[in-house]
Amino acid sequence: MEEIIKRAEEWVQEKLKHDKTGHDWAHISRVYRHAVYLAAKEGGQVPVIELAALLHDVVDDKLVEDVDAAYMELMDWLHAQCVPESMIIHIIDIIKSMSFKGGNRPPMKTIEGQIVQDADRLDAIGAMGIARTFMYAGAVGHSMYKEDGMVRETMTEEEYRNGQSTAIHHFYEKLLKLKELMNTQTAKKLAQERHDYMEQFLTQFMKEWKTDYENVD
Ligand code: ADP
Ligand code: NI
Repeated sequence: MEEIIKRAEEWVQEKLKHDKTGHDWAHISRVYRHAVYLAAKEGGQVPVIELAALLHDVVDDKLVEDVDAAYMELMDWLHAQCVPESMIIHIIDIIKSMSFKGGNRPPMKTIEGQIVQDADRLDAIGAMGIARTFMYAGAVGHSMYKEDGMVRETMTEEEYRNGQSTAIHHFYEKLLKLKELMNTQTAKKLAQERHDYMEQFLTQFMKEWKTDYENVD
Protein backbone atom coordinates (compact mmCIF):
# COMPACT_ATOMS: atom_id res chain seq x y z
CA MET A 1 0.00 0.00 0.00
CA GLU A 2 2.87 2.39 0.75
CA GLU A 3 4.04 1.99 -2.83
CA ILE A 4 0.57 2.87 -4.15
CA ILE A 5 0.42 6.00 -1.97
CA LYS A 6 3.75 7.08 -3.40
CA ARG A 7 2.57 6.53 -6.98
CA ALA A 8 -0.63 8.45 -6.21
CA GLU A 9 1.48 11.39 -5.00
CA GLU A 10 3.48 11.36 -8.23
CA TRP A 11 0.39 11.02 -10.42
CA VAL A 12 -1.40 13.92 -8.70
CA GLN A 13 1.69 16.15 -8.80
CA GLU A 14 1.92 15.64 -12.53
CA LYS A 15 -1.79 16.38 -13.01
CA LEU A 16 -1.89 19.57 -10.94
CA LYS A 17 1.39 20.98 -12.20
CA HIS A 18 -0.20 23.88 -14.05
CA ASP A 19 -3.02 24.71 -11.65
CA LYS A 20 -3.74 28.36 -10.88
CA THR A 21 -7.00 27.91 -8.97
CA GLY A 22 -5.71 26.99 -5.51
CA HIS A 23 -5.66 23.26 -6.18
CA ASP A 24 -1.91 23.00 -6.50
CA TRP A 25 0.20 20.21 -5.03
CA ALA A 26 0.83 22.26 -1.87
CA HIS A 27 -2.95 22.21 -1.20
CA ILE A 28 -3.14 18.45 -1.73
CA SER A 29 -0.12 17.91 0.47
CA ARG A 30 -1.63 19.98 3.32
CA VAL A 31 -4.97 18.16 3.00
CA TYR A 32 -3.11 14.85 3.11
CA ARG A 33 -1.31 15.83 6.32
CA HIS A 34 -4.53 17.08 7.93
CA ALA A 35 -6.17 13.78 6.99
CA VAL A 36 -3.36 11.65 8.42
CA TYR A 37 -3.54 13.61 11.68
CA LEU A 38 -7.33 13.37 11.88
CA ALA A 39 -7.15 9.62 11.18
CA ALA A 40 -4.72 9.16 14.09
CA LYS A 41 -7.17 10.96 16.40
CA GLU A 42 -10.49 9.73 15.03
CA GLY A 43 -9.84 6.28 13.52
CA GLY A 44 -10.88 4.96 10.10
CA GLN A 45 -9.12 2.93 7.42
CA VAL A 46 -5.90 4.79 6.80
CA PRO A 47 -5.27 3.68 3.17
CA VAL A 48 -8.73 4.82 2.06
CA ILE A 49 -8.23 8.15 3.85
CA GLU A 50 -4.77 8.68 2.38
CA LEU A 51 -5.78 7.84 -1.20
CA ALA A 52 -9.00 9.86 -1.10
CA ALA A 53 -7.11 12.88 0.32
CA LEU A 54 -4.45 12.68 -2.39
CA LEU A 55 -6.92 12.14 -5.23
CA HIS A 56 -9.83 14.35 -4.11
CA ASP A 57 -9.24 17.19 -6.56
CA VAL A 58 -8.28 15.39 -9.79
CA VAL A 59 -11.95 15.31 -10.86
CA ASP A 60 -12.84 18.89 -9.82
CA ASP A 61 -14.88 20.70 -12.47
CA LYS A 62 -12.66 23.76 -12.01
CA LEU A 63 -9.70 21.69 -13.18
CA VAL A 64 -10.97 19.29 -15.82
CA GLU A 65 -13.17 19.90 -18.81
CA ASP A 66 -14.95 16.56 -18.70
CA VAL A 67 -15.76 15.42 -15.16
CA ASP A 68 -17.10 11.99 -16.22
CA ALA A 69 -13.97 11.28 -18.23
CA ALA A 70 -11.86 12.34 -15.22
CA TYR A 71 -13.74 9.83 -13.02
CA MET A 72 -13.16 7.10 -15.61
CA GLU A 73 -9.47 7.91 -15.74
CA LEU A 74 -9.25 7.89 -11.93
CA MET A 75 -10.98 4.50 -11.71
CA ASP A 76 -8.75 3.07 -14.41
CA TRP A 77 -5.71 4.34 -12.55
CA LEU A 78 -6.87 2.79 -9.25
CA HIS A 79 -7.56 -0.53 -11.00
CA ALA A 80 -4.13 -0.42 -12.62
CA GLN A 81 -2.57 -0.07 -9.14
CA CYS A 82 -4.49 -3.20 -8.04
CA VAL A 83 -6.40 -1.31 -5.33
CA PRO A 84 -9.15 -3.68 -4.11
CA GLU A 85 -12.55 -3.07 -5.75
CA SER A 86 -14.35 -2.34 -2.46
CA MET A 87 -11.76 0.30 -1.65
CA ILE A 88 -12.08 1.89 -5.10
CA ILE A 89 -15.85 2.18 -4.66
CA HIS A 90 -15.37 3.77 -1.24
CA ILE A 91 -12.75 6.27 -2.50
CA ILE A 92 -14.86 7.31 -5.50
CA ASP A 93 -17.90 7.68 -3.25
CA ILE A 94 -15.97 9.97 -0.88
CA ILE A 95 -14.67 12.15 -3.71
CA LYS A 96 -18.16 12.43 -5.25
CA SER A 97 -19.73 13.47 -1.95
CA MET A 98 -17.04 15.95 -1.10
CA SER A 99 -17.62 19.20 -2.88
CA PHE A 100 -19.82 21.67 -1.06
CA LYS A 101 -22.28 23.02 -3.60
CA GLY A 102 -25.42 24.52 -2.16
CA GLY A 103 -27.14 23.40 1.02
CA ASN A 104 -28.71 19.99 0.44
CA ARG A 105 -25.66 17.85 -0.09
CA PRO A 106 -26.11 14.46 1.61
CA PRO A 107 -23.96 13.99 4.74
CA MET A 108 -20.76 11.98 4.48
CA LYS A 109 -21.57 8.35 5.30
CA THR A 110 -18.28 6.98 6.59
CA ILE A 111 -15.66 8.16 9.06
CA GLU A 112 -13.10 7.98 6.23
CA GLY A 113 -15.19 10.40 4.14
CA GLN A 114 -15.84 12.66 7.11
CA ILE A 115 -12.12 12.93 7.76
CA VAL A 116 -11.12 13.72 4.17
CA GLN A 117 -13.90 16.32 3.92
CA ASP A 118 -12.78 17.95 7.17
CA ALA A 119 -9.17 17.93 5.96
CA ASP A 120 -10.14 19.74 2.73
CA ARG A 121 -12.26 22.22 4.66
CA LEU A 122 -9.47 23.01 7.11
CA ASP A 123 -7.34 24.12 4.17
CA ALA A 124 -10.19 26.34 2.93
CA ILE A 125 -10.22 28.47 6.12
CA GLY A 126 -7.70 30.46 8.17
CA ALA A 127 -4.72 32.18 6.59
CA MET A 128 -4.55 29.49 3.88
CA GLY A 129 -8.23 30.03 3.13
CA ILE A 130 -7.76 33.79 2.85
CA ALA A 131 -4.78 33.41 0.54
CA ARG A 132 -6.45 30.79 -1.67
CA THR A 133 -9.62 32.84 -1.98
CA PHE A 134 -7.77 35.92 -3.24
CA MET A 135 -5.70 33.76 -5.60
CA TYR A 136 -8.89 32.25 -6.99
CA ALA A 137 -10.68 35.60 -7.30
CA GLY A 138 -7.65 37.03 -9.12
CA ALA A 139 -7.44 34.05 -11.44
CA VAL A 140 -11.09 34.35 -12.54
CA GLY A 141 -11.13 38.16 -12.65
CA HIS A 142 -13.31 38.89 -9.61
CA SER A 143 -12.82 42.04 -7.53
CA MET A 144 -11.67 41.73 -3.93
CA TYR A 145 -14.74 43.54 -2.69
CA LYS A 146 -17.74 45.59 -3.75
CA GLU A 147 -19.53 47.67 -1.13
CA ASP A 148 -22.99 46.30 -1.86
CA GLY A 149 -21.89 42.75 -2.59
CA MET A 150 -20.82 41.55 0.84
CA VAL A 151 -23.65 40.91 3.22
CA ARG A 152 -25.85 38.60 1.16
CA GLU A 153 -24.91 34.94 1.31
CA THR A 154 -26.51 33.95 -1.94
CA MET A 155 -26.19 35.27 -5.43
CA THR A 156 -28.02 34.40 -8.62
CA GLU A 157 -26.24 32.79 -11.57
CA GLU A 158 -26.75 36.03 -13.46
CA GLU A 159 -25.11 38.14 -10.77
CA TYR A 160 -22.17 35.72 -10.85
CA ARG A 161 -21.85 36.05 -14.60
CA ASN A 162 -22.02 39.84 -14.32
CA GLY A 163 -18.99 39.73 -12.05
CA GLN A 164 -20.88 40.60 -8.86
CA SER A 165 -19.12 37.91 -6.87
CA THR A 166 -16.03 39.00 -4.97
CA ALA A 167 -13.36 37.45 -2.81
CA ILE A 168 -14.96 38.96 0.31
CA HIS A 169 -18.36 37.64 -0.73
CA HIS A 170 -16.93 34.13 -0.74
CA PHE A 171 -16.25 34.35 3.02
CA TYR A 172 -19.94 34.95 3.71
CA GLU A 173 -21.15 32.50 1.12
CA LYS A 174 -18.94 29.64 2.30
CA LEU A 175 -15.82 30.08 4.41
CA LEU A 176 -17.43 31.36 7.61
CA LYS A 177 -19.85 28.43 7.56
CA LEU A 178 -17.24 25.71 7.41
CA LYS A 179 -16.36 25.62 11.12
CA GLU A 180 -19.88 24.49 12.00
CA LEU A 181 -19.89 21.96 9.18
CA MET A 182 -16.84 20.03 10.42
CA ASN A 183 -17.75 16.37 10.95
CA THR A 184 -15.19 15.42 13.60
CA GLN A 185 -14.47 16.95 17.00
CA THR A 186 -10.76 17.11 16.22
CA ALA A 187 -11.36 19.18 13.08
CA LYS A 188 -13.83 21.43 14.93
CA LYS A 189 -11.13 22.21 17.46
CA LEU A 190 -8.56 22.95 14.75
CA ALA A 191 -11.08 25.07 12.84
CA GLN A 192 -11.72 27.47 15.71
CA GLU A 193 -8.36 29.26 15.53
CA ARG A 194 -8.61 29.54 11.74
CA HIS A 195 -12.17 30.83 11.95
CA ASP A 196 -11.25 33.50 14.51
CA TYR A 197 -8.38 34.58 12.28
CA MET A 198 -10.74 35.07 9.31
CA GLU A 199 -13.11 37.15 11.47
CA GLN A 200 -10.20 39.35 12.54
CA PHE A 201 -9.08 39.66 8.94
CA LEU A 202 -12.55 40.77 7.79
CA THR A 203 -12.81 43.36 10.56
CA GLN A 204 -9.42 44.77 9.65
CA PHE A 205 -10.21 44.63 5.92
CA MET A 206 -13.39 46.69 6.38
CA LYS A 207 -11.57 49.18 8.59
CA GLU A 208 -8.86 49.71 6.00
CA TRP A 209 -11.35 49.69 3.11
CA LYS A 210 -13.23 52.65 4.59
CA THR A 211 -10.03 54.67 5.05
CA ASP A 212 -12.01 56.79 7.46
CA TYR A 213 -9.87 59.47 9.11
CA GLU A 214 -12.79 61.45 10.47
CA ASN A 215 -12.85 59.58 13.75
CA VAL A 216 -9.10 59.52 14.24
CA ASP A 217 -7.46 62.07 16.55
P1 ADP B 1 -11.45 22.73 -2.36
O1 ADP B 1 -10.18 22.38 -3.03
O2 ADP B 1 -11.20 23.10 -0.94
O3 ADP B 1 -12.52 21.72 -2.57
P2 ADP B 1 -12.83 24.60 -4.12
O4 ADP B 1 -12.66 23.76 -5.31
O5 ADP B 1 -14.21 24.93 -3.70
O6 ADP B 1 -12.01 24.10 -2.86
O7 ADP B 1 -12.05 25.96 -4.34
C1 ADP B 1 -10.65 26.08 -4.35
C2 ADP B 1 -10.22 27.37 -3.64
O8 ADP B 1 -10.78 28.48 -4.31
C3 ADP B 1 -10.75 27.42 -2.20
O9 ADP B 1 -9.79 27.95 -1.34
C4 ADP B 1 -11.96 28.30 -2.30
O10 ADP B 1 -12.22 29.01 -1.12
C5 ADP B 1 -11.61 29.21 -3.45
N1 ADP B 1 -12.85 29.57 -4.14
C6 ADP B 1 -13.77 28.75 -4.67
N2 ADP B 1 -14.81 29.44 -5.20
C7 ADP B 1 -14.51 30.74 -4.98
C8 ADP B 1 -15.16 31.99 -5.28
N3 ADP B 1 -16.35 32.05 -5.90
N4 ADP B 1 -14.54 33.14 -4.92
C9 ADP B 1 -13.35 33.11 -4.30
N5 ADP B 1 -12.69 31.99 -3.98
C10 ADP B 1 -13.25 30.82 -4.32
NI1 NI C 1 -9.29 20.41 -2.25
